Amino acid sequence: MKLTERRVLAKVPASTANLGPGFDTLGMALSLYAWIEMGVSETGTAIELHGRNLRGLPTDKNNLIYKVAQLVFNEAEVDIPELHIAMYSDIPLTRGLGSSASAIVCALAAANALIGSPLDDDRLFQIATRLEGHPDNVGASVFGGIVVASWDGNRASHIRLEPSPDLDVLVAIPDFQLSTEKARHALPDRFPMADVVFNVSRSSLLVAALATGNHGMIRTAMQDRMHQPYRAALIPGMAGILDGAAERGALGAALSGAGPTLLALIESGSPRKQELERFLLQTLAAEGITAEALWLKPAAAGPELTVTDGGAAAELAPLMERIKGEVRV
Ligand code: HSE
Repeated sequence: MKLTERRVLAKVPASTANLGPGFDTLGMALSLYAWIEMGVSETGTAIELHGRNLRGLPTDKNNLIYKVAQLVFNEAEVDIPELHIAMYSDIPLTRGLGSSASAIVCALAAANALIGSPLDDDRLFQIATRLEGHPDNVGASVFGGIVVASWDGNRASHIRLEPSPDLDVLVAIPDFQLSTEKARHALPDRFPMADVVFNVSRSSLLVAALATGNHGMIRTAMQDRMHQPYRAALIPGMAGILDGAAERGALGAALSGAGPTLLALIESGSPRKQELERFLLQTLAAEGITAEALWLKPAAAGPELTVTDGGAAAELAPLMERIKGEVRV
């Protein structure tokens, strides 16, 4: 089989990080996706980006996907300078849904599959964490489900939990962007001991609640004193939503990652979903913020890969036709 006759399609979930108290530690994959198709090019690198979420990003070798693919090839000691890449993403940029983590993981998974998967998932997780600087979003995109992770600046460790099928996730995505860098700058670099104890206890409770299916504990366990209070000024309406969501049927609510998206967990069978959605959107609207509500599920799987070889690869339809039934628009 010639490598030039292989095409890989990778589909990777978005993610939410922190889940309230688990700052830079907890992540959950979500049923919102990015897709990358990758192949070796014999005629120079060509990068096609589809959809409004990728508008304005580079389409030359400065493209993140191209650069991440080259990291995989370097690690595996293969030389593939020219690629054909097509990408589409349903994950809005810079909103706290792990769009960059998903793009990195999607590029790693596609490039690795292209060369016969010499790197295991843990290797991909290590590279992705190094690139992102924290393991929470990338861990969820690599392993799917709920990921509890640590990072010592050199090595990332993780344990994956199976998400409950009984959880639904409501996200309210404000129509403004907030860079992770700006949202991290809002945080102090020292915390009172009482707040540290507060967060360690809540984060530990949350992991135990999610691991055992004790959903009644989520409300207490999702409280946070480490990042949300400091970021509240950047997201008008956030404090009201975090205070009031449980009174409208939510099991718990949090800022999604560094924001500005807000997230609420609710039992799938709850009759109060419309009420909760209205509450989130109206609370943001009262602050003059338009937001889009999406109902998602925790995504149990990490990257899904389709590898096509030989003559069949030449017959493949373009990316947007191949994923037509799966994308949101
Ligand atoms: N844990 C990170 C933060 C997630 O809250 O800053 C950002 O992607």
